[in-house]
Order: sequence, then structure tokens, then C-alpha cells
Amino acid sequence: MEFRDVLYSRHSTRSFTDRIVTKSEIHTMLDAAIHAPNACNMQSWHYYIITDPAVKEKMAENGVCAPWVTEAPVIFVICTDAEALTSRFGEKGEVFALQDTAAAAENLLLCATDMGLGGCIIGSFDADRCRNLLSVPKKLDVVMLVPVGEPDEPVTPKTRKPIEVVVTYI
Ligand SMILES: Cc1cc2nc3c(=O)[nH]c(=O)nc-3n(C[C@H](O)[C@H](O)[C@H](O)COP(=O)(O)O)c2cc1C
Repeated sequence: MEFRDVLYSRHSTRSFTDRIVTKSEIHTMLDAAIHAPNACNMQSWHYYIITDPAVKEKMAENGVCAPWVTEAPVIFVICTDAEALTSRFGEKGEVFALQDTAAAAENLLLCATDMGLGGCIIGSFDADRCRNLLSVPKKLDVVMLVPVGEPDEPVTPKTRKPIEVVVTYI
């Protein structure tokens, strides 16, 4: 797809077909994610990839996230290890680590769109339950889930505020 077509056809997808997302597709999306801009190129992120139906079922059962999230063929769990950033930048390093995950998630979603897939950034989930279920080590913060799969119906694009409302030229 042309870049602008990808950009404007990415919409948060919350309903998926049963089509499997292949290892190769997952790898392609991860590669897009790790090429995102990130603070000092310290690459504070770490990704857990969930495709196992039993684990997804436990996520729903344990109240980690909304059940629809676990119906995606693959769930990317994006974590950060902010230690290197905070030792260099203090508290600001924690912000940088979060910003790293946001940039990675957008790259991942644009890549998914380019491959005919869709997904959604999930910030509302129980990070502690997620950590326990996946045995995520303490040094990592679990920041977001990104369920991805083939959209099972066209997504109605969300409107945006007009540019004039959100921009100040100086
Ligand atoms: C930081 C962040 C957190 C989000 N958390 C959730 C969430 O918990 N659940 C959800 O359904 N969508 C979530 N979203 C998706 C937004 O609702 C969505 O991006 C927004 O409504 C704009 O729609 P669009 O992505 O289709 O353009 C989140 C998006 C961002 C960037």
C-alpha cells in the first residue's frame, strides 16, 4: 500500500476473523515496532507475544483485559525496562520509556494495516494480573496490550477535531 493509504486506513480494530496470523507476519510487525524512534536508542522495550489459546483464555478468566481482546489471533504485550533511561534522565526517563512504547505500537499497527490486518492499543487492562499470568519479571513495566488480527468487518473511521482547534501557530 502507498504510505498515505496505510496512514489513513489504520483504525482501531476490535473484532477479528479466525484467520491465523503467521509467525512470519508477527516477525514483520515486531521488526516494524523495533524500528520506531526511541529515547537515545536505548530500546527500553520488551515484547511478549501471545498466540496460545489457553493463555488467552486465562487472560479473559483472570480479568486481565476485556474478553474481546483475547479473541485476537495474536496479542502483543509491550513492556519497558526504564532503568537505563531513569539512571540517565531521572524521572523523565520513565516518560521516555512510555513514549518509546507508543511509537513502537504505532509502527506495529501501521505495519499490520499494510498487511491487511488491524489492531488496537489497549491501555485499560490489569497490568498486575497480566504480569502474574505471564511471569513478567519485576524490572519490566507492562504498559500496553496490542491485539492484532484480520478485521471481521470494516471499521467506521473515528472523526477528529479540526486542525484549527488543536493547533497554535506561533
Ligand atoms: C494510549 C491509548 C490507550 C488506549 N486504550 C484503549 C483501551 O483500553 N481500549 C480500547 O478499546 N481502545 C483503546 N485505545 C484506542 C483508542 O480508543 C482509539 O485509538 C481512538 O478512539 C481513535 O480511534 P482510531 O484508533 O480508530 O483512530 C487506546 C489508544 C491509545 C493511544
